[in-house]
Amino acid sequence: MNKDFFEHKAGIYDSDDNRVSNVANIANAVIDAISFDRTMHLMDFGSGTGLLLERIAPFVRKITAVDISKAMNDQLNSKRGSLGCDIAILEVDLVSTDITDTFDGVISSMTLHHVKDIEAMFVKFYALLNDGGIIAIADLDKEDGSFHTEDTGVYHFGFERECIVNAAKKAGFKNIKIIDASVVHKPHGAFPVFLLTAKR
Ligand SMILES: C[S@@+](CC[C@H](N)C(=O)[O-])C[C@H]1O[C@@H](n2cnc3c(N)ncnc32)[C@H](O)[C@@H]1O
Repeated sequence: MNKDFFEHKAGIYDSDDNRVSNVANIANAVIDAISFDRTMHLMDFGSGTGLLLERIAPFVRKITAVDISKAMNDQLNSKRGSLGCDIAILEVDLVSTDITDTFDGVISSMTLHHVKDIEAMFVKFYALLNDGGIIAIADLDKEDGSFHTEDTGVYHFGFERECIVNAAKKAGFKNIKIIDASVVHKPHGAFPVFLLTAKR
């Protein structure tokens, strides 16, 4: 069984104001960049406690939250009654699980750095989308390794934007755009966050 890296963080995850405002910035950038409508079914990859999906929910029909962590999913589940669309929670490792459903979009915030093989993940995102489906993926720009103070299963100290754009291109995505979405301020530095959007 996989280790739940977020077991001890989940209960206090939403009490970090910097984290909440970072995801709020990301959500605003996603809402500005994508034309959502109430017919759409999205997947949120690495949905955690739902900080991103709770802001996108009022604009779509349904969101399938995919997260490997039981503790994070429990937090999301406790918010279920107050969310603005239908929610399904899938407790799986998306790297090693084949999901047969397809979606109108995949959104994701601060999760890609937990995935070893980025190119394979973009291929998976592509396969998970209906034709014309969108991705909106936000994560850290390249950093010096000081962002995380504890091990939560991190494979990448952020990303060069060129590397993310190339992975999306290689998987077949079109209309690829990458913009500044947010900056996480910590006592020891500022950590910029990108948002990549693209279309299948
Ligand atoms: C840093 S948290 C981000 C949570 C949320 N998106 C946010 O921005 O607040 C990363 C989340 O991704 C999940 N995760 C990491 N690797 C995963 C995988 N391979 N499959 C599913 N979930 C994964 C973790 O369990 C964790 O909840």
